[in-house]
Amino acid sequence: MRKITIAIDGFSSTGKSTVAKQLAAFLGYVYVDSGAMYRAVTLYAIQNGLIGSNFFNKEKLIEQLKDINLKFNLNPKTNTAEIHLNEKNVEKDIRTMEVSGFVSQIAQVPEVRRKLVEIQQKMGKNKGVVMDGRDIGTVVFPDAELKIFMTANAKERAKRRFLEFQEQGKDITFESIFENVTHRDYIDTTRSDSPLVKAENAIEIDNTHTNIEDQFNIILQLAKDRIAGRV
Ligand code: CDP
Repeated sequence: MRKITIAIDGFSSTGKSTVAKQLAAFLGYVYVDSGAMYRAVTLYAIQNGLIGSNFFNKEKLIEQLKDINLKFNLNPKTNTAEIHLNEKNVEKDIRTMEVSGFVSQIAQVPEVRRKLVEIQQKMGKNKGVVMDGRDIGTVVFPDAELKIFMTANAKERAKRRFLEFQEQGKDITFESIFENVTHRDYIDTTRSDSPLVKAENAIEIDNTHTNIEDQFNIILQLAKDRIAGRV
C-alpha cells in the first residue's frame, strides 16, 4: 500500500502527539515528536549554563550545536521511540516546566531550526511518517499528503496539561501552566523564522469539545482517503 507523510501542527498542548502516536501505531508508520528535539536542545543549553532566567548565550549555543547529538531509540517496554541527547535517554527530563519555560526562545534561533529540520527531513525521506510540531506542514514537509492544524481553547489546553502533571504527581499550579502555554503560543506564532501558521492546504481541527477517540477516527479517515488516492 502506498505510504504518505502526515504533518500535524498546532498550538501547545492541543493533543497533537496523542493523535500522532495513535495514527502511527495504526498505520505502522514512524512517529516523530519534533518538539522533543527542541526540548532536548533546550535541556542541553540549561545543563551547560547557556540559558537562564536573565541570560541567553546564543552565540555559544550556535557554536556548540555540532556537539549536540540527537537520536530516537525504541524503548521495547513501551514500544515508543524515546529521545536521547548525546547517548543519554532524556525523554523524561525534557518534559519539565523549566524546559518548557525556555524552549520557545531556543526554537527561535535559525541555526537550531536548520539543524533539526535537516534531521527531521532525513527521518521522513521514505514517507510512512507522522510528525508533529509547529512547522511540519509549512517547512519540514511542505509536500505532505495530509496536513492537520490542531487548535483548542487555551484554558482547556492548560487544563489537559495540568491533569497530565497531576497524574505524574508533579505539584505545578494551573496558573503557571496557563501562563507558559499562552506565552509559548505567542513566541511560536510571532517569531520570524518558521512561525506557527496554518499551512494553506492544512485541515483545521478544533478539539476543544472532541474526545480522543472521535478525533482519532476523524483524522484516520482523512489519512485513509489519501492513502487510497481518493483525495
Ligand atoms: O508542550 P507541547 O507538547 O505542545 O510542545 P512541544 O511539541 O513539545 O514543543 C515545544 C516547543 O518547541 C514549542 O513551544 C516550540 O517553541 C518548539 N517547536 C518548534 O518550534 N517547532 C517544532 N516543529 C516543534 C516544536
